Formats: sequence, structure tokens, C-alpha cells
Amino acid sequence: MPSRIIAVEPFDLVVFGGAGDLAYRKLLPALYQRHLDGQIPPGARIIGVSRRAMSDEAYRDATRQALEDHVPAEERDDGAVEAFVERLHFRSVDASGDAGWSDLADLLKAGGDRIRAFYLAVGPGLFGTICKRLGEEGLVTPETRVIIEKPIGHDLESACAVNDDVGSVFAESQIYRIDHYLGKETVQNLMALRFGNTLFEPLWQNGSIDHVQITVAETLGVEGRGGYYDKAGALRDMVQNHLLQLLCLVAMEPPAYMDADSVRDEKLKVLRSLVPIDEANASTLTVRGQYRAGAGPEGSVPAYSSEVDNPATDTETFVAIQAEIANWRWSGVPFYLRTGKRLAARVSEIVVAFKSIPHSIFGEGAGALAPNKLVIRLQPDEGVRLWLMIKDPGPGGMRLRYVPLDMSFAEAFKVRSPDAYERLILDVIRGNQTLFMRRDEVEAAWRWVDPIAQAWERAHDEPKGYTAGTWGPSASVALVERSGRTWHDELE
Ligand code: BG6
Repeated sequence: MPSRIIAVEPFDLVVFGGAGDLAYRKLLPALYQRHLDGQIPPGARIIGVSRRAMSDEAYRDATRQALEDHVPAEERDDGAVEAFVERLHFRSVDASGDAGWSDLADLLKAGGDRIRAFYLAVGPGLFGTICKRLGEEGLVTPETRVIIEKPIGHDLESACAVNDDVGSVFAESQIYRIDHYLGKETVQNLMALRFGNTLFEPLWQNGSIDHVQITVAETLGVEGRGGYYDKAGALRDMVQNHLLQLLCLVAMEPPAYMDADSVRDEKLKVLRSLVPIDEANASTLTVRGQYRAGAGPEGSVPAYSSEVDNPATDTETFVAIQAEIANWRWSGVPFYLRTGKRLAARVSEIVVAFKSIPHSIFGEGAGALAPNKLVIRLQPDEGVRLWLMIKDPGPGGMRLRYVPLDMSFAEAFKVRSPDAYERLILDVIRGNQTLFMRRDEVEAAWRWVDPIAQAWERAHDEPKGYTAGTWGPSASVALVERSGRTWHDELE
């Protein structure tokens, strides 16, 4: 049976924060791309909402500009842009007051009982207020969904409060918590690789795997988001969500089906099996760092402390953690997690490092034997590499060489890699929650992260400094090398 794209029903998508950065930079360009591919049905409407006053026409103009800024020229087609902006409407609504709500309600009710999705691209402080009001206005039908994005709280308690607020109006089956990493092409490929092949699964356990590394490295700094970031830090901003989600996909048991609850049940089991890190072991199992002045891809960059309002800040911009999953499959296999801003390169990858061969039959002349590695590159240059030992070609004895079996997706498929939001927004319309976080997952992730944050707070340790443009503090190298291992980038 050939694979096929699942069509979507006509819908109304309302974006609160519709004139904000996320809408212009990500959501509208993503919707345009889906429109261009013919995946948005006739009559579907996109309604931007914000407190500011703006006419439909002004919103269409702003969107034309956003597409010019954020969609590559070769993917912009004047006719398609015009047809796309025709779908747009704008309503000025005071989220925490009364103004504008009846206008919005009239517009939506004119759409009948079609699918309705509310994307709350606003601060989490407004999630509860907006949801309650949507309920009071009678705008929440059985075919209505709400989309929220991190930060969902800054600890377990505040996350539960957000979930309670949203949950008081929407059923869990209507709530779509976005972790945009789950929408990335290669992240999904991880599932295809594991569960679409027989090759890896028998080896996917502590008998064959030595350790796993998950790196999400950025070269950017805080890019004008210092107010939020300085309160969050890398642990809450990246580890609690993106890195733990990746860890779940690597470590979970094969789900019975690809449906949302089967997948999310398995991810939840992984989160619940994480060995706690707290005051007793945080100093040996975690490293936190903060960048000093140094170099970025475009020249010198200032220290983190001078990019945020508080020069004495002790927020971490880098984290490395040695995690462990206490279950039959993974007992004894360290999972090294690492993420940071202003690092040496922008690279996100998962490295599954296999064990060494038990015994070498080759003589000394063969050279060193390195253990196999499966490297799943999430970005940039999405692809999969399987590092193998092969015979060095040519006569003159048996010499071995370590080379990758290399599959670059760009070269293999010659297609544009869609942005995560393109898939995720349409999945909301399709009613497919597989790539969204369930309430219990978010809370289980906080349950593991909170004691780490508390241990750091109680220890009063300053984050370790690292020069911008490097791979983070030397303690992160030591974290891995203590057991005779190395971070993958040093090998290539
Ligand atoms: C966001 C974080 O969730 O992910 C940002 O808040 C980070 O701090 C971003 O820069 C990274 O996403 P991507 O898709 O650029 O890797």
C-alpha cells in the first residue's frame, strides 16, 4: 500500500499573540508552506488576535512582510501568498478584559461547527484567563482544541497549576502541549529507525549499548529573551522538555501502536524510571555553566552576564547531566545529556555508542578498533550515520579503518525539510496527539528536574564559566571522561 498524506477538514485557527514574534516568525510561515502544498482546505480561516487594534488588511500586510522575511525567496509564490493572506482575519481582543470578545465570538460562530483550534502564543500567565473566557463565551465545542507551549510552569507545582487552569475548561483530549522538537523530521525518524527495522531493536539494550549521548548545542545567545531566560536557565528551558523528550524516544519500549496514548504511555514509563538526582549526587552527576565573552560565528560576543539585566546573574546557559534509567533494558547505561548556548557549533544529535568487540583477532598492524556508533543528526544536515570498522582498501596486510555508513536526508531525498510547526499545527487539526505532551508526562519531567534545580540552589555554587564559542566548561568533559568515554564531537 503506498504511503499517503492525511487530509484535514476545514477549520478555524485562532492565534492569540497573532501579531507576536512566534506568529510572524514560525506559525504563519508554517501555515503558508502547508497552504502551498495544498494541505489547507478551501474555507479554512486563520484569525490573528491581540490586544492591539489592527484591520484585516493591515494584518495581511504584516503577514506578507513576515513571509518575505522568513520564507526563502524560491519558496514564495506571489499568487500563493495572495491566496494565503485571503484566509487571514484579525480581531483585537483584551485577553484579560472584556473588549473584543463578542466580535471574536461572532466571527467564529459564523464558521458553524467546524474544527476550532486556539493557539495560545502568549505568556503562560494568560493561559488560564483565556481558557476560562473561551468557555464563558461558549466557544469551546467538542471539536475545539487548545494549543499551549512551554514554559508550562517553572517547577512541578506551577506546572500543575497551569494544567489545572487549562484542564478546567478543556478535556485532556483537547489539549495540545507543543514541544517543537517532537515535530522535527529526524526526531520522527528515530521512531522509524527503531520500529520500522529489525536491525537495531535486538541490540537496543544494555547488553550491546555502552552509553547514549544527547547533545543540543546552539551558537546563539539569549537573543532578546533575557527576561524569560534569566529566570529559567538551560535546565528548565531545554532539559525539562526537549532533551527529556529525546531521551524518551531513544529509551522507550516499542509501543503497541503509533497512537497518542500508546506512545505517551511508553514515554511516561521512561520518565518515571529516571534515577533521581538530588543534593546527594548532583555535584558528581551534573555540570552547570555560564558563558563568558568569546567568539560567535560572526565575531566576538559579550558575556551572558552583560546580555541580561542582572550583572550578578548565576543562571546557567549550559548543562551536562549523566542520567540513568533504572529498568531492565537500560540499567547500567549512562545517558549523557548536554545543552548550551554560545557553544562551538549549532548541532543537535543523538549518539548511540555500542560496546567494544569482546576480543580482537587482528594483529597490532590493523590499527585501533573503535566501537560502533549510531549518530542521529537532528540539525543541521539531518541524517543518520552508522560508524563501522571496515578493511582499509588495498594490498599490504589487514588494516582496519573507522568509517561512517552515511545517509544525509538532504542528499537522499532532495526535498525541503519542513519546519516542525508545519507538521504540528496540522496534527492538531487532524486531532492527532501523538507528538504532543500529555499532562502526566510534563509533570513527570518536572518531578525529575525539580530536585536538580533545588540541589543547585542549596549548594549556592556559581555556574562554571566557559568561553563563548567553546564546548562548555571543562567539567563537562570530565563528567564523561571519568568513565573513560568522550563526547562524540572530539572524534570527528
Ligand atoms: C526553545 C528554547 O524551546 O528552543 C530556546 O526556549 C532554544 O532557548 C530553542 O533556542 C531551540 O530550538 P531549535 O529548534 O532552534 O533547536
